[in-house]
Amino acid sequence: MSLRLRKLTSRIGAVADGVDVTAVPDLPTIRALREALNEHKALVFDDVDLDNAGQEQVARWFGELTTAHPNVPAADGTANVLAVDSETSKANAWHTDVTFVVNPPQVTTLRSLVTTPYGGETIIANTGAAYRDLPEPLRALAQSLRVVHTNQFDYARPQAGTEQEREYDRVFVATPYEAEHPVVRVHPLTGERGLFIGGFAKRITGLSAADSADLLRLFQSYVTRPENVLRWTWSPNQLLVFDNRITQHYAVDNYDDHPRRLNRVTVAGEVPVGVDGRRSVQLLGDASHYTSVLEVAA
Ligand SMILES: [Fe+2]
Repeated sequence: MSLRLRKLTSRIGAVADGVDVTAVPDLPTIRALREALNEHKALVFDDVDLDNAGQEQVARWFGELTTAHPNVPAADGTANVLAVDSETSKANAWHTDVTFVVNPPQVTTLRSLVTTPYGGETIIANTGAAYRDLPEPLRALAQSLRVVHTNQFDYARPQAGTEQEREYDRVFVATPYEAEHPVVRVHPLTGERGLFIGGFAKRITGLSAADSADLLRLFQSYVTRPENVLRWTWSPNQLLVFDNRITQHYAVDNYDDHPRRLNRVTVAGEVPVGVDGRRSVQLLGDASHYTSVLEVAA
C-alpha cells in the first residue's frame, strides 16, 4: 500500500489516500500513517467501507484500544465504540478527549454514520502551533504551570435540555475523575510541545478560580485562532483520525434538529510529561477499567 496525502491547511489536516483501511496493513504503512499523523495531526479517510469491528481494527493500528468511556457504556454490541449522537450530547465545547484521566487516549477515530444536510462540522485545532504562537513570556509562564482536569465540568448547557441529554450528563459525571497535567505537554514521539488544556481543564494549580479562568481563556485564545484550525464538513462513511495528544476539537452545533451520528474509538495513551519532565497524576478516581497505560520508550 502506498499512502498519499493531500494537505487541507498549512498547519493541520490532510486527506489520506491509497490505504485500504479494511486490509491488514504492513509495518511500513503503519509507520507512514504514524508519521503523517505526527505531521498533520488529523487525517481524513474518505469513502471507507467499515463497520464497528472494522473501525476498531483500524484504531488498533495505532495501539491498544480503550473501552468506550470511563463512565458511558459502549454502543450496543461493541466493546470499544462510543456513540457520538446529537440526541444525547452535541459536544459543542472545545476539548481534548478524556483528559480527566491520567493517561488520556493518544489517538481518536471518528466514523460518520449519519451526517447533517448543512453544518455539523468538526473543527480541530493544532495545539502545538498554538504553543508556538505564544509570545516567549507567555510560553515560559505556560510551561511552568500544571492544571487539574475534571469530568465534573460545566457543559454550560441550557437548563432546558431534553431528558435524553440530561440523562447522558448524569452518566458522564456519575463517577468523578480528576487528573493534574502539565499545561504544556511534550509529545513523546516528536518532542513537539503543545498546550494541553481544553474544556475539562478547571483549575491551574496554585491559582484562584478567577485567575485560572483568565489564564486558561488567554491560552485557549491561541488554540482557537483560525490559522490553527481545520474545519471538516462530514459526508457519510468518512473516518477522521486525530492525534489527541496535540489537538483540541469541537462539534459545531449549527444543524438545527437534524440527527448527527458518529462512532468513536480511541487508542490508549501514555502518561503525559511536561517540559520539566514531570508526569501527570490522577488525583481522583481510578480509570484502569477504561484504559491501559501505554509505555513509551524514553
Ligand atoms: Fe471529543
